[in-house]
Amino acid sequence: MPPQLKRLLPLFAVFVILFLVVRYFLVPESFGEHGHYRFNSVEDNANQELHYAGKELCADCHEDQVENLESDLHASLSCETCHGPGLAHSTLEGSVTLLMPDEREFCGLCHSFNPTRKKKMVAQVDLNDHNIEKKCIECHNPHMPWELTEE
Ligand code: HEC
Ligand code: HEC
Ligand code: HEC
Ligand code: HEC
Repeated sequence: MPPQLKRLLPLFAVFVILFLVVRYFLVPESFGEHGHYRFNSVEDNANQELHYAGKELCADCHEDQVENLESDLHASLSCETCHGPGLAHSTLEGSVTLLMPDEREFCGLCHSFNPTRKKKMVAQVDLNDHNIEKKCIECHNPHMPWELTEE
């Protein structure tokens, strides 16, 4: 064995031991129990408070809106995509008010022209050109966008 290596070996051993000690303190409890992840994170997430209710629950009290939504091109959207988290509203029977986004910019989040967005995926309009004098919902029913209320 070359003499340099003999001197380096103890140093190397110190590094390995240091690594093992640091690792012992840094690896969180339950890591690796069921795979290469921290198993307790599953429980942490399951314990988070719920905020969203889901379309089925909305249907208990708003059958008409659910029917309308399913009948037209917004069928793939969830009620809460537009109205925001609605679990408290649902369990307290409407006493907590929800968002009612009626601004052009809101619809523009999905429909404003964007050259990086595929037109086939979602129809796009130029917000600075498409019927600028009115709000979108004065013409398009938000639940049934092709039930035009006015031209
Ligand atoms: C248990 C019955 C119930 C459930 C479930 C329910 N709502 Fe309501 N909702 C009501 C009532 C009652 C009102 C009327 C309250 C009012 O006019 O102040 C209302 C009003 C609304 C309004 C109009 C608010 C306004 O300011 O006029 C929206 C939007 C709405 N609900 C959306 C939803 C959505 C989305 C869901 C599902 C996440 C949902 N609701 C679930 C009972 C319910
Ligand atoms: C694309 C966004 C969008 C989606 C999706 C949506 N809403 Fe709405 N909703 C609105 C807007 C905007 C208004 C306000 C309409 C107005 O002021 O005339 C509204 C109004 C309402 C109202 C008040 C009464 C009425 O009909 O105007 C209720 C209740 C309601 N929505 C429930 C629902 C439920 C339940 C769903 C899911 C089945 C849903 N909405 C899905 C945007 C949406
Ligand atoms: C979360 C995204 C989202 C929001 C917000 C949204 N839409 Fe849509 N919209 C869609 C999708 C997805 C479709 C179905 C694909 C398509 O036809 O472009 C659609 C379809 C439409 C269409 C039919 C287009 C066609 O292809 O014939 C109109 C009109 C429309 N939306 C108007 C509105 C208006 C008005 C608002 C605001 C009240 C709004 N949308 C808000 C996602 C959205
Ligand atoms: C004055 C009434 C009116 C207003 C306000 C209006 N629209 Fe329209 N929109 C129409 C009509 C009519 C059409 C069909 C003819 C056309 O494409 O211009 C249409 C078409 C569309 C289309 C389909 C375009 C395509 O290429 O298939 C989308 C998406 C749309 N509008 C979204 C919106 C959004 C978002 C707003 C608000 C920023 C809005 N509209 C405001 C009347 C209106």
